[in-house]
Amino acid sequence: MNDLKLIEAAPEYAGQLWQFRKEVFEYDPDDGNRFGGCMSIESANSAEEWIEMCRMRKSAATCKQAGADVPSTTYFAVRKSDDRLVGVIDLRHHINHPILGTWGGHCCYTVRPSERGHGYAKEMLRLNLQNVKALGLNKVLVTCYPSNKASEKVILSNGGVYEKTVIIDGIRIQRFWIDIVNNGTVEISDMELSNVSEYAELFVSVFNAEPWNDSWTKETAQIRIENMMKTGTFIGKALYADNDLKGIIWGQKERYYNGTHFHIQEFCVKTSEQNKGYGSALLKALEKTLSEIGVVNIFLITSKGEKAEGYYSKRGLTASYSMIMMTNHSFC
Ligand SMILES: CC(C)(COP(=O)(O)OP(=O)(O)OC[C@H]1O[C@@H](n2cnc3c(N)ncnc32)[C@H](O)[C@@H]1OP(=O)(O)O)[C@@H](O)C(=O)NCCC(=O)NCCS
Repeated sequence: MNDLKLIEAAPEYAGQLWQFRKEVFEYDPDDGNRFGGCMSIESANSAEEWIEMCRMRKSAATCKQAGADVPSTTYFAVRKSDDRLVGVIDLRHHINHPILGTWGGHCCYTVRPSERGHGYAKEMLRLNLQNVKALGLNKVLVTCYPSNKASEKVILSNGGVYEKTVIIDGIRIQRFWIDIVNNGTVEISDMELSNVSEYAELFVSVFNAEPWNDSWTKETAQIRIENMMKTGTFIGKALYADNDLKGIIWGQKERYYNGTHFHIQEFCVKTSEQNKGYGSALLKALEKTLSEIGVVNIFLITSKGEKAEGYYSKRGLTASYSMIMMTNHSFC
């Protein structure tokens, strides 16, 4: 999409801005969070007054007079073909602030209701990442409520990596980081059977190398993965960066007497792409899905004393005190 541009909030769009505000009020009469990225627009007396406040918020010297502790820039998303204002997005210049650093984040956005569902928010955030780069930031925090699935998709499609959910005054807020340095096209999606051949190639390349030195062939790996994907209890995630598969993680849901458990069966990141955060991003994405479906326990089997054991313990998993894995020694 290249029919959209971001321009700094400017008086020539005052008329359209007021229409945008009216549309949002009418569409979401009862939602206190209907205006993302439009700080205090609800209480402004006129579009001109609000645009002037945006101007004052740009500078550390004047932002406090305009009600903001931290300087920020507000952008209008304008469709180039007909000069229509379709949305508003802001960018805080830093989040060294107790609220912004915890749940406010660097930016927020609103698309006018009549223009939603056309990919504009995704494009607005993508364009705003260029402003982030220009500001010299390496990563940005973007947050949303778990119920705001549209906003979550917007963040994920821009390379947002789920970090954690915080609870503020009883309300759950999801935190996502977008890494500007490596950003662009990192995407985590559910594993799909049509891509099994690609997964098998990655699997073989990782596990036939150090420290495992297994003897997989593409065929045996593909049979293993395909069988596991067809169970009906399978959940798996694949991470792509620059359209290249970098890692996969998968396992099975298991009904237990105290709820649903999840068994992580395989997890691998391309050998040359390890230590770049892809593994953590995959694990977090899987954990998020599992928490959404109410999984109460995650478990896995991994080699004792190897790198993998340390990796998992760093990420909060511990060896079970009550269970051991037993074998007839056909496993090495
Ligand atoms: C969130 C918001 C900005 C999205 O704007 P938009 O222009 O509709 O977003 P896009 O079209 O770029 O992308 C929306 C994605 O969410 C999906 N989506 C929309 N509603 C959804 C829902 N209820 N459940 C799941 N997905 C949903 C769309 O299908 C689309 O995904 P797809 O492209 O993979 O199909 C808009 O809903 C809005 O302005 N909301 C009010 C303010 C707000 O909540 N801001 C975010 C604060 S964090």
